[in-house]
Amino acid sequence: MFGLIKKEIGYLFRRLENRSNSSQSLVKSVDDYVNQLKSLNYYPDKYISYSGPSVKMKVSLNGKKPIIVTQFCTNNSLGFATDPDIIAASKAALMKYGSTSNSGSPALCGKIHIHEELEKEISSFKRCKFSTLFMTGWMANIAIINAASNLLPTSIPNFINDKDTIILCDHLNHASIVAGLGLTKIESMVSSHMSGHVSIKQFEHNDMEDLKKKINKYKSKHERLMIVSDAVFSMDGDIANLPEILEIAGEFNGLVVMDEAHSTGTIGETGRGIVEHYKLNKSKINSSGADRVHMTTLSKFAGGVGGCVISDNVSFNDLMHISPYHIYTSTLPPSVAASCLAAFRKLKKNPQLVSKLQKNSRYMREGLKDLGYDVRGETHIIPVVLPEKTNVTLFGRTLFEKHKLFVSAVYAFAASPRLRMTCSAMHSKDDIDLLLSVMENVGKKMNVI
Ligand SMILES: Cc1ncc(COP(=O)(O)O)c(C=O)c1O
Repeated sequence: MFGLIKKEIGYLFRRLENRSNSSQSLVKSVDDYVNQLKSLNYYPDKYISYSGPSVKMKVSLNGKKPIIVTQFCTNNSLGFATDPDIIAASKAALMKYGSTSNSGSPALCGKIHIHEELEKEISSFKRCKFSTLFMTGWMANIAIINAASNLLPTSIPNFINDKDTIILCDHLNHASIVAGLGLTKIESMVSSHMSGHVSIKQFEHNDMEDLKKKINKYKSKHERLMIVSDAVFSMDGDIANLPEILEIAGEFNGLVVMDEAHSTGTIGETGRGIVEHYKLNKSKINSSGADRVHMTTLSKFAGGVGGCVISDNVSFNDLMHISPYHIYTSTLPPSVAASCLAAFRKLKKNPQLVSKLQKNSRYMREGLKDLGYDVRGETHIIPVVLPEKTNVTLFGRTLFEKHKLFVSAVYAFAASPRLRMTCSAMHSKDDIDLLLSVMENVGKKMNVI
């Protein structure tokens, strides 16, 4: 609040001074900013790949000649993005529909049959009743958060949305959730049909005591409650405490929004995600008193692109169907919808791939820990957090250029300095052993273990 007032006062002073001569072009500001990013070494290296995300990939770094590397960085956790059956399903849909695109938005041209099939497949896989597809998980997250608080940005006769909402957000939630929160707040302030207030509070990462404390401190009796969290955290690879979140939300008839981008296909005995991971059944969930909505992306295990909102509530699903983030944009091309459909079907028939992924991930995480690294989380996302002063970019480049290993060097604006590694069911023990021996060698040379 104080920051906002300070900003406004600064702005008023600048206006009063009428500094018209000192106005800077927008492009010059962009130049200054990007140059500063580069001079601080914050600008990411450029990796271009010349093959699909198999274990071995052909990749170039910063424009140099491409080389074959072993990757531990993609989300192709079960190998579906490069699976011949799934590629065949995608090709078949291309031929069946005779088109590369649906050439329109669902508001104008509707959807195609394969979208409906995919929505049904996803709801049944996630053991929920309904689902709606979006072009990306990013858009699906925004659609859920905004619609749950504000409904749609359209006034209809005899309906006023005057309900206040408080949203509790985990400190490490994904950027798309943060974008959804910002947009929701702004829309609640400017929409003519919305007289309700939206307030947003962060709670410490996966800290249930802090969540309760913040609700007790900030929630007024009349406010509706929403709690939003990644199910598997994209940078830390740990798992949200869903059972407690449901219990806490249930006390206030709250809505729990779970972003299952990284949990579908990877956790739970058969890859059904966070509900299966905690062995929660429907009656247990319902008795908590909380409602829940899940988002899953199709861009991770399913090897495609797209997002999906899944729930048991018909009205919520109907609302998603007419969300601006659904109707004012395109629909998934037939080839993509078909590959995602084939991915869900293949997963249902091959749960052993999930056990393999989990076994590989445990082996890799324990191996890195044994070397003395600070390894976070408990899933196939394996972040190796490096000491504050480490040059993470250089570490990543050394792994790539000298040892032909491709991992993500993450720094500056995304998270604390780390090598974010991902494991997959496709990796062999030899692949992981190779990574471990290189990490031992480079880590010692760089003085980080
Ligand atoms: C936790 C999480 N949520 C949402 C998204 C966005 O998904 P999509 O790639 O489908 O836009 C991502 C993607 O990185 C993610 O990691």
